[in-house]
Amino acid sequence: MLQDDLYATMFKRKSVRKYAPGKLDPVMMEMIVSHLSELKPLFPEIRTELKVMTNPEVKGMFKVDAPHFLAFFSEVKEGSPANAGFMMQQMDLFLSANGVGSCWQGGPKPIKEAMGASELEFVTLLAFGPPAQDIHRKSVAEFKREPLAKISDVNGYDDLLEPARLAPSGTNNQPWFFTGGNGAIHVSYARSMIVDQMNQIGAGIAILHLWLAATHSGKIVELRKDRSSDANPPKKYSYVASLILS
Ligand SMILES: Cc1cc2nc3c(=O)[nH]c(=O)nc-3n(C[C@H](O)[C@H](O)[C@H](O)COP(=O)(O)O)c2cc1C
Repeated sequence: MLQDDLYATMFKRKSVRKYAPGKLDPVMMEMIVSHLSELKPLFPEIRTELKVMTNPEVKGMFKVDAPHFLAFFSEVKEGSPANAGFMMQQMDLFLSANGVGSCWQGGPKPIKEAMGASELEFVTLLAFGPPAQDIHRKSVAEFKREPLAKISDVNGYDDLLEPARLAPSGTNNQPWFFTGGNGAIHVSYARSMIVDQMNQIGAGIAILHLWLAATHSGKIVELRKDRSSDANPPKKYSYVASLILS
């Protein structure tokens, strides 16, 4: 699968909540499992592990009735939820680009017996399977999202920020803010008493969309922490990471 396919999928993907009976065919499942080892991390120093689970191994609020689930486990470190968002969104796009339905699952968790699948800490889930509904939007107009002016004060780079604006988030609240310009985009997430981890995951998803758009436009992109942005995030936001563009 080419990165260009993932780029194009950002403009049409949607959450799939209706699944056909039965499981994915074994060839598709094998392709999905082998893609797991190709995911790019946002923070390579954080150890992670992804496990495929079955429907009965997962329970909780807002669970969709999919046959398969991808569980993300991680070392507990600063940035691990954003790292999970960045890596799992590559799977969300990969699945959608291959005609497989998927839906992020912030509410549900693996059952006790399945939690032991990894010695790392559970972070989040993605449901997937054969879809029983349209999996793509027909146009960008179908995305319900905030306008760019509400989530960014970056001067320029609208072509990179637009796909980040369309990124999925836990309660579709676009919990991110973009600052910078002139060779850098800095990303912060909206702090929250209730959905702080989910908002950090959301920022990681938005960074992935920015990264795909920047590489698609031919830019060389370095993902890293920027000390002065870390010290000066917008009010009510915390800094996550920057894209340095050249
Ligand atoms: C971190 C995260 C957690 C989510 N949790 C759930 C969930 O538990 N159940 C659900 O049905 N949808 C969940 N969603 C899907 C969002 O509701 C959905 O992405 C958002 O409404 C935007 O719609 P779209 O994905 O169709 O573009 C989650 C999305 C994200 C990014």
